[in-house]
Amino acid sequence: MGDDRLGWIFDTPSTDALAARYDHWAESYDADHQTWGWQGPTLTAEALRRHAPSARRILDAGCGTGAAGRALRASGYAGELIGVDLSGGMLARAVDAEYDALIRGSILDLSFRAGTFDGIIATGVFTHGHVGGVAFAELVRVATPEAAISITRRDDISEAFAPFSDALASDGVWRQAEALPITNLHENREDSQQTIVTWITLGSSLNK
Ligand SMILES: C[S@@+](CC[C@H](N)C(=O)[O-])C[C@H]1O[C@@H](n2cnc3c(N)ncnc32)[C@H](O)[C@@H]1O
Repeated sequence: MGDDRLGWIFDTPSTDALAARYDHWAESYDADHQTWGWQGPTLTAEALRRHAPSARRILDAGCGTGAAGRALRASGYAGELIGVDLSGGMLARAVDAEYDALIRGSILDLSFRAGTFDGIIATGVFTHGHVGGVAFAELVRVATPEAAISITRRDDISEAFAPFSDALASDGVWRQAEALPITNLHENREDSQQTIVTWITLGSSLNK
């Protein structure tokens, strides 16, 4: 994989290949992210808690090794916490992060009933070669009305996400509650700017 692990992971030809690359990276993923100063989980957990202080059931979409779950627990969140990820290798590293369940699968096709979660967090997932804005509709489907959905989104590809998020807003499915630009979400890397975006679902027919 060489030294440029992010480049290697961004340039993946298929979903199966992405899962395999994360399986391969899982052992050193946390150490690499500690070196890089990955702030996404902590800052996004803070955003979610700000907008959903009473959440009782949170989905960590693309939970990886459990960084966002750990950040939520460190912030005092004591409710139910479910993690979903493509990579079995990454999930195996999340077992000590106090999730109530860890599920291997895609956030594009979740096995939960509509209206299951009143909070959703996704860090490091809306990025190159991972999931596109098409995933927003599935997150909204499993969210309750008035749920908060907080994600990190890379700004250099924000235009690819905008048509999907804007359509959900103009259809009255959600409203954007906050967009927090962060210059270096990896504190110790030269990184493209990312934004922590939070939407609140409005309980449209997509949820039913
Ligand atoms: C950069 S890692 C972020 C992991 C963790 N959220 C964090 O902040 O450290 C991206 C994760 O998204 C997962 N992923 C990518 N596409 C996915 C999909 N369609 N469904 C579920 N997980 C996905 C990968 O397997 C990987 O664990």
